[in-house]
Amino acid sequence: MSRVILLIIVFILGLHTAVSAQDNINDGVNKKRVQRGLQLVNQGRCNDCHTPLVEAEDGLVPDTNRTLSGHPSDSEIPKIPNSEIDSEEWLEFLSTLDSTVWAGEWGISFSANLTPDSTTGIGKWNEDVFVEIMRSGRHVSLKRNINPPMPWKDYAKLSDEDLKSIFAYLATLKPINNAVSKPIPLPQD
Ligand code: HEC
Repeated sequence: MSRVILLIIVFILGLHTAVSAQDNINDGVNKKRVQRGLQLVNQGRCNDCHTPLVEAEDGLVPDTNRTLSGHPSDSEIPKIPNSEIDSEEWLEFLSTLDSTVWAGEWGISFSANLTPDSTTGIGKWNEDVFVEIMRSGRHVSLKRNINPPMPWKDYAKLSDEDLKSIFAYLATLKPINNAVSKPIPLPQD
């Protein structure tokens, strides 16, 4: 009887050590991925489009309080001019758009919230969902294509490991609750 108990204890202790060793390995992998992810996010210039700008002494700079949180939901939705896309009015309109709003023949698109907020960001995604989206150019829930200018075709060429690293980095961001507007198509004429 006591031998059985001893065996169980040894087994549990053994299991415990195995789990913590595994955790350590995972931690190491994750740390490496987060670092690599940050590097790829910088190289891929994700902040240029996904981080809103803020007024600073030396002009507009990326707002580090809202890193990668997308088009701010409290800013005004621009109104598409009712003129030809190559008209002066359109050019002027384009010059008024900030770095999280994009317009062209597809209409207007708003840069997505890439922070791990669970309702307005990517908090409910796992790395497989993320890889699938970056490879297919399909928006997560709406079963629609991701609009320009999101250069997903370039990022789709990255390895699974690199895409998972980007996801691992994004998961470390401060979650920001910011519901980004859906794209608006051009008015039909
Ligand atoms: C030139 C601007 C631009 C750059 C650079 C850019 N994005 Fe985007 N991204 C967008 C826009 C605009 C959208 C929203 C498009 C839409 O609503 O269909 C978007 C959408 C996304 C989506 C889809 C979100 C969803 O809800 O399905 C993901 C994921 C994403 N971007 C990740 C990234 C990552 C990661 C990088 C950098 C490696 C990056 N983007 C760089 C503009 C950009």
